[in-house]
Amino acid sequence: MLIRLTYLSKATRDMNMQDIQDILTVARDNNQGLEICGMLCYDQRYFLQTLEGPRDDVNELFLEIAEDPRHDDVVIISYEYIDATTFGSWDMGFAPATDAFYKLLNDVGQNTFDPRALTPEQAVSFLSGLSEQHQTNN
Ligand SMILES: Cc1cc2nc3c(=O)[nH]c(=O)nc-3n(C[C@H](O)[C@H](O)[C@H](O)COP(=O)(O)O)c2cc1C
Repeated sequence: MLIRLTYLSKATRDMNMQDIQDILTVARDNNQGLEICGMLCYDQRYFLQTLEGPRDDVNELFLEIAEDPRHDDVVIISYEYIDATTFGSWDMGFAPATDAFYKLLNDVGQNTFDPRALTPEQAVSFLSGLSEQHQTNN
């Protein structure tokens, strides 16, 4: 059984590119072994992440991530059973806050990144858009 879990959280301090890189290095390594994929983004101190993969593995990983002291105020915004993964090319993709990021944000009605105000559908659509952009750019 596959699921897609999407959550937002607030970084406990400002993250620089090295901090993000540290998260991604571990994430990519672990997720590959677990057949979990997804997308992470960070801006305005918010993280928005989607995790796709086998239900029990995603649940377990999420509980571990939620305990990570680098962020708090973790809120699950969407939990869906899916037939197939849609972020399959990414053990864990990362989308920095570029012009393309803001363009997609505008598409879901925001000028400033505030994932708390996104509906579940908007959050997933934003992350999917980022994942596609990312694919074309790399
Ligand atoms: C915003 C955020 C997203 C993360 N995403 C992942 C992830 O997708 N996969 C992963 O294994 N760890 C992720 N981590 C790191 C985990 O919280 C944890 O540090 C990692 O699983 C290593 O745990 P360990 O030291 O107990 O092996 C993330 C951390 C943060 C703060």
